[in-house]
Amino acid sequence: MSLIDPVAPSLPQVMAETAAQPKHHVVAVVGLGYVGLPTALGCHAAGMSVIGVDVSGERVREILDGTPDLLEPDLCRLELARNDTGRFAVVGDAAAIAKAECILICVPTPIDDRQTPNLAPLTKACEAVVAHARAGQVLVLTSTTYVGCTRDLLVDPLAARGLMAGQEVHICFAPERIDPANTNVAMTEVTKVVGGVTEACAMAAVPFLGALANRLHLVSSPEAAEMTKLLENTFRAVNITLANEFADVARIMSLNPIEVIDAAGTKPYGFMPFYPGPGVGGHCIPCDPHYLLWQLREARMYPSVISAAMQGIAMRPARIVQRAAEVLEMAGRPLRGSRVLVVGVSYKPNIADTRESPALEVIGGLRARGARVSIYDPVAGSVQLNQEVLHSLPCPPPPGDHDLVVVTCRHDGVSEAAITDADLILDATYSLPEAGNRFVP
Ligand SMILES: NC(=O)c1ccc[n+]([C@@H]2O[C@H](COP(=O)([O-])OP(=O)(O)OC[C@H]3O[C@@H](n4cnc5c(N)ncnc54)[C@H](O)[C@@H]3O)[C@@H](O)[C@H]2O)c1
Repeated sequence: MSLIDPVAPSLPQVMAETAAQPKHHVVAVVGLGYVGLPTALGCHAAGMSVIGVDVSGERVREILDGTPDLLEPDLCRLELARNDTGRFAVVGDAAAIAKAECILICVPTPIDDRQTPNLAPLTKACEAVVAHARAGQVLVLTSTTYVGCTRDLLVDPLAARGLMAGQEVHICFAPERIDPANTNVAMTEVTKVVGGVTEACAMAAVPFLGALANRLHLVSSPEAAEMTKLLENTFRAVNITLANEFADVARIMSLNPIEVIDAAGTKPYGFMPFYPGPGVGGHCIPCDPHYLLWQLREARMYPSVISAAMQGIAMRPARIVQRAAEVLEMAGRPLRGSRVLVVGVSYKPNIADTRESPALEVIGGLRARGARVSIYDPVAGSVQLNQEVLHSLPCPPPPGDHDLVVVTCRHDGVSEAAITDADLILDATYSLPEAGNRFVP
């Protein structure tokens, strides 16, 4: 395995170098979602010309109007890019990728209701890229996916068109490792893992990926890079399930799990703190390990630790609903008919993204057991539950309005007092101060 960093230059260096070059690199980014758009903006900020491609007309309009859900620094970058039409274009037709030197594919890789990978968006995107690719291009798949996918969807179909990896085209897998809403770590500070089909493929991607990350870590193949991403998110899934289980154990022992985790976290080696919660959401942890489990079924392998972790994750919201019923029962009220306020419906603090949010299942579970549920989330604003859209209350309601407040996510702007004055609180974030009216799952 060849390692790293003859390293890619830092962003300022790249910008200076690029500015000094007579010709700008031209990059196409296919899929302009939570990952692709910041990536496209990062390319533009690094001095490249960017062609963004997205099949969703609504998304294209949103970007061109400057209104997507982005953090402030990325909104500023978008403003700069929108005013730089010579170097930033957003289109719906994948044919535009033919003009690019490098193509980054960042389309979604979700799972369906049966937790089976839904490869349709990725397959369609790769088919379009393969159809319009030309000799001389560098193609980089960044969507999280199963091991061998880069070969199946890019290398082999391009070879069938006479474009051989390492010769006419260069092909890599480089997983996206973005942490949405994390303003502490700049995208350029996150090392990029790059697996080329050949060493020449990896080296051909360096000028492009090196502009997005200060360090590149080269691995021996696309498969090693694909597996790296699956390991990262499986590691998190396993440890979150462990943290949830430990929290349940701590409660039985009348211990504060956060105190214990923080204490263990003082050890400078061999321990990494993970915290309990209402479950996990977004497009990574609830989905990615299923790509591995799905693939392993063909080999009749059922890895027990990973399977147990995913089962724990899937069942966590139901545990929160059960605890809500227990807490109300302790106060002499049945869950059926109780007025329950769910605070925080995003899957993590400070973003509006509610995809796979555990709050959705918590709300559904509470309603299924007869509770009258309202939500309060000034960041998400609303949430779609099956065919219905639930809107957030405009402001925190007075304490007596609800029998129970279930806290599933805490955004920075939501004052603690607005929550802690309630009669009964089930704090699934484990973050509120201990008090007589506050319970944990
Ligand atoms: N969101 C995260 O936190 C995160 C972090 C790391 C990795 N990832 C991975 O990155 C990938 C993208 O995730 P995301 O969160 O940005 O998804 P997303 O759903 O936010 O965005 C994907 C975009 O791709 C577009 N798209 C779909 N099919 C297309 C096609 N055929 N051609 C062009 N555009 C198409 C969609 O319209 C959408 O705008 C996934 O594999 C995900 O697992 C996501």
